[in-house]
Amino acid sequence: MSELNQAELDRLLSEAKATDVSTPERLEAFRIAHFGRQGLLKDLNERFRAVPGPQKREMGQALNTFKQALQAHFDGAKAQLTAAEDAGTSGMDHTRPSGEAPLGSHHPIRIVRREILSIFDRMGFTVADGPEIEDDWHVFSGLNFPEEHPARDMQDTFFIQRNPDLLLRTHTSSVQVREMEQREPPLRIVMPGRVFRNEAISARAHCIFHQIEGLYIDRDVSFADLKQTLLVFAEQLFGSGTRIRLRPSYFPFTEPSAEMDVYWGLETEVDKRITKGTGWLEIMGCGMVDPAVLEASGIDPKEYNGFAFGMGIERIAMLKWQIGDLRAFFENDIRFLEQFTAAH
Ligand code: PHE
Repeated sequence: MSELNQAELDRLLSEAKATDVSTPERLEAFRIAHFGRQGLLKDLNERFRAVPGPQKREMGQALNTFKQALQAHFDGAKAQLTAAEDAGTSGMDHTRPSGEAPLGSHHPIRIVRREILSIFDRMGFTVADGPEIEDDWHVFSGLNFPEEHPARDMQDTFFIQRNPDLLLRTHTSSVQVREMEQREPPLRIVMPGRVFRNEAISARAHCIFHQIEGLYIDRDVSFADLKQTLLVFAEQLFGSGTRIRLRPSYFPFTEPSAEMDVYWGLETEVDKRITKGTGWLEIMGCGMVDPAVLEASGIDPKEYNGFAFGMGIERIAMLKWQIGDLRAFFENDIRFLEQFTAAH
């Protein structure tokens, strides 16, 4: 290692000043090469220690002057870069929106549930909730399903062995009974929730699914009120001009009872397949609340009447997004769920 001298410092300084530091990356490389832990200054300081005593003072001053000049050069280059960036000449666009942070997505059942509830919210319905483990009264007997009545077979039920009176609710209609028992009419409520049926899992059936129940009890409620409420709902959910029809049906707790269909279309092969060639799709069950049900819940059927309806959320989500297999909602496959990020 040669002895440190003024000539070398002069040469090093002019080399440093000739280095290209016109981009942030080059300036950073310069900083590391000169001021870094293994950089030039570290090296020079070490060599300075070996300078013989009599020359130390002079070399020390020379080295200090060199350091200051190097630092001044670096600071100047850095200030120039910053000014260029501020003037927008660095190719960086400060007005660009930042990248979106990945936040996951809502589950499609959640998205549809929220949409349905908000439609009914705008019509003045409030939300009510009830237990998933229920007793026979709230799921069946209070809804006019007598014991041993074949209508119970419509809903294959999970019973709880240790207490034969307890079961997993097969429909959210149980919450109707609880609300009618606890509150005074008028009632205008929607009741979302999970329901359970002892069914083999397939593309069209699952042992767990979700429903939204509706109940409207007041004086002089008519079937026209039911139909108009459901028409407004269908138009809000599927678009204005949506056509509905009510087909006679049977439920023990409504009289008369109906199934509501929505007109889906019959143009494409898909339309034909999902509507089984009719163009119509079944959306929900509904009807005028049976006076026996009102009475069983402590509401005087001579004073009040009303309507009820119940729909499956999965079914509506399947229609909305043309999802062909119910199991997709329960498998939590991220490739499926990710497709709903834009649907919030
Ligand atoms: N609870 C019925 C079912 O699960 C649907 C329904 C609700 C029908 C309210 C009429 C009135 O099939």
